[in-house]
Amino acid sequence: MKKIIITIDGWSSCGKSTLARGLAKELQYVYIDSGAMYRAITLFFLRHHIDWSDTHAVESHLADVSLEFHQNAHSEKSEMYLNGENVEYVIRDMVVAEKVSEVAALGPVRTFAVAQQRKMGTRKGIVMDGRDIGTTVFPSAELKIFMTADNAVRVERRFKELYAKNPNISIEEVKANLEMRDYIDSHREISPLRQAEDAVLLDNSYMTMEEQLVWAMKLVHERL
Ligand code: DC
Repeated sequence: MKKIIITIDGWSSCGKSTLARGLAKELQYVYIDSGAMYRAITLFFLRHHIDWSDTHAVESHLADVSLEFHQNAHSEKSEMYLNGENVEYVIRDMVVAEKVSEVAALGPVRTFAVAQQRKMGTRKGIVMDGRDIGTTVFPSAELKIFMTADNAVRVERRFKELYAKNPNISIEEVKANLEMRDYIDSHREISPLRQAEDAVLLDNSYMTMEEQLVWAMKLVHERL
């Protein structure tokens, strides 16, 4: 059976990972959350007090970063490991969210992450979500989806997710963080967030998960 590469890019908190995970399950493909890699690198830099305005320091410390995805046997979800430690939970923290766009804008960090992402796609049969997957990582992917949703809907979704972990969080804080990340992600010099010319746009503001999956599976069948 022919296997393809599916890329899902878009704004923060659009539900990219939910759709990507759903597609991967349906197709028995590998799902890769590329944002988790940038989050894990940010966590490493924060923990080791690395001054990321110093390109030299960034380059030399990246050599100490090992990133791997492992499947959680219980939840069947793939989880991010940083130097052998499961960091899937801690990388979703606000402390990391505050800094990840800055770190993800750094040239050496992108070169490091993109090289690993490309390797993961050599055998195809992969769904990868992020910001530059269809434009930079896999420019010749067979199916590219670009996701968007109303700002208020995105803030609400993200707030619910974070509130479950930390009831002290405010909706204003979540909104400010989303706006800041979207701004930095779409205005950075290297591989800014943008819709690839051959990507199909999906606005899922008022769609259920099932509707999105049906919509995307139709496109998959067209490309297979
Ligand atoms: O998808 P996410 O919110 O977990 O991504 C975290 C950050 O990483 C986001 O602010 C932008 C950055 N990112 C990126 O620059 N390129 C990617 N392919 C994926 C994420």
